[in-house]
Amino acid sequence: MKINLQNLPFTLKPFILSLFLSLSLLTFLSLQTPRHTKPTILPPDLKIRPGYSSYNAYINLQLNKTLNPKLRKIWTTRDWTRKVQVFSKFFENLKLRGFLNNHSKALCVGARVGQEVEALKRVGVNDSVGIDLVPYPPLVIKGDFHYQPFDDRSFDFEFSNVFDHALYPLKFVGEIERTLKPGGICVLHVSLSGRTDKYSANDLYSIGPLKELFKVSELVEVRQIDGFGLDTEVVFRKKKK
Ligand SMILES: *[C@@H]1O[C@H](CO)[C@@H](O)[C@H](O)[C@H]1NC(C)=O
Ligand SMILES: *[C@@H]1O[C@H](CO)[C@@H](O)[C@H](O)[C@H]1NC(C)=O
Ligand SMILES: *[C@@H]1O[C@H](CO)[C@@H](O)[C@H](O)[C@H]1NC(C)=O
Repeated sequence: MKINLQNLPFTLKPFILSLFLSLSLLTFLSLQTPRHTKPTILPPDLKIRPGYSSYNAYINLQLNKTLNPKLRKIWTTRDWTRKVQVFSKFFENLKLRGFLNNHSKALCVGARVGQEVEALKRVGVNDSVGIDLVPYPPLVIKGDFHYQPFDDRSFDFEFSNVFDHALYPLKFVGEIERTLKPGGICVLHVSLSGRTDKYSANDLYSIGPLKELFKVSELVEVRQIDGFGLDTEVVFRKKKK
């Protein structure tokens, strides 16, 4: 059908013109606001701490904490029993909720001396290992959580309580999603109330940013916890497809 503007009645012209203008405006707006893509910039409830001149500078600061002999002594002696007990309770609870079982292949991300790995083994999840910048054999092997030393789809379950140490949260989460099997579970313990540590590399104020960072997983549970200064447990499940 051909519309010839010249032949239309005089009164219809403004109507056609405004229809044309609104359609152009709608087209313009729909191009401006992509509806199905997630934002690629970090959401405002997640702030990266400034001040790292390079990735090496960041790694060196992290190493400074991890290698601190006084802290290592405390982690492996005074802290050990209490932390293993508390982690065991967390993992028993996750088992009851169906997120973990004795046959799960489990990874603890940023495990330091591996108290959580020990806890997993105690509750019967024998095939468990941790990674950190400094190894603590046999529980923890060397690995940077921004570049996990594992193949895609290696684990059924991953746990971390060091999200605040990630300089690149998108990479931290991306690596977890890469190495989880489809249907695999990721449990994060985070602080939403500004736990401050000079070694933290980011500050998280709500779980909103986590929902954006996990691209191929769904949020399954959020609950309040009392976990060594961390207040929130978040559970994601990697999608099957
Ligand atoms: C950590 O930093 C402190 C103070 O800047 C320094 O004295 C110490 O040698 C560093 N430790 C390590 C293990 O790098
Ligand atoms: C899992 O392992 C624990 C510890 O070895 C054991 O007590 C428990 O019965 C096991 N659970 C199942 C379902 O086999
Ligand atoms: C885990 O290790 C314990 C102790 O070595 C053993 O009794 C248990 O059968 C093992 N469980 C599995 C699922 O392999």
